[in-house]
Amino acid sequence: MESAMKSLMSDHNRYKESFCMYIDRSTEHQCIQQFIVTKLPDIISSIPNGKTTIDVLSLGSGTGEMDLHILSKLQDKYPGHPINNYVVEPSKEQILMYKENASKALNIDNVTFTWHQKTTSEIEQEIKEKNKFKKYDFIHMIQMLYYVKDVPATIEFFHSCLAPEGKLLIIVLSRNSGWNTLYRNHGSRVPANEMCLGLCSEDVTNILDSMSVKYETYDLPTDLDITECFTEGNINGELLLDMVTETCCFSKTAPPDLKELIMEDLKSPEFSVKKDGKIFFNTDLKVLVIENKQPY
Ligand SMILES: C[S@@+](CC[C@H](N)C(=O)[O-])C[C@H]1O[C@@H](n2cnc3c(N)ncnc32)[C@H](O)[C@@H]1O
Repeated sequence: MESAMKSLMSDHNRYKESFCMYIDRSTEHQCIQQFIVTKLPDIISSIPNGKTTIDVLSLGSGTGEMDLHILSKLQDKYPGHPINNYVVEPSKEQILMYKENASKALNIDNVTFTWHQKTTSEIEQEIKEKNKFKKYDFIHMIQMLYYVKDVPATIEFFHSCLAPEGKLLIIVLSRNSGWNTLYRNHGSRVPANEMCLGLCSEDVTNILDSMSVKYETYDLPTDLDITECFTEGNINGELLLDMVTETCCFSKTAPPDLKELIMEDLKSPEFSVKKDGKIFFNTDLKVLVIENKQPY
């Protein structure tokens, strides 16, 4: 990895800007929202299993838009049941935006929020040190597992935090997505720190198989309009490139040969499709829903 390059995660403000641009140019949130509307009601039909209160743990919540949709569906499914939503998110900036989004949400009125400005490993350590083990009815990790140091240990620990009949929902890049292929090709040259940028759905299913747990998978085809990345000096394109490469100011700090390789890949048919004069990068996702049960 070239020394001038810095991980995007090391600059919370730039990350927030890049992530907002990414969400604006991507179909990711619409597709996840559609999944929440069409599939989540069935997925959560086994909880709260006799309890009055529903406990939800959100790991790497970002600005909370997807969390708020999940909470709204839980509330629709279980009217009158109070919901406790525990948020774990290391970025202060994202938590501030989450709080603002939650205060504006009209369709959640029976939810109590607790925000923890921490990483998953910090919260895990805290739980273990204080011996404060709590069981959750629904736990989700949406597009966040790339940022943990030890993916199998993280999945195992939080799976052990599920209440009986509880569900763990994980969303990650699909093995066949252009984005995952890009990391597989060039991941060693971008600043990964201790993150698992090349993680994909297949890695997660291998971990789940080794844990012998029962799970279901769903495909979520999504794409990202990267057209602006090909206009030199375009600020929106630069923010998108930062997100795609997880590198802070990639255009200005990447060595020319790496930049050339990545720009070539991004527009090649293995990674993207061209439509109506625009270029759409394949960012297909997979949803994995894990039960707190052993396989039959
Ligand atoms: C790609 S965003 C996804 C946000 C949100 N789940 C969504 O789908 O809109 C990843 C989030 O994970 C958070 N994150 C990074 N490292 C983390 C860690 N070690 N533990 C928990 N969250 C982390 C980031 O701050 C960021 O908000």
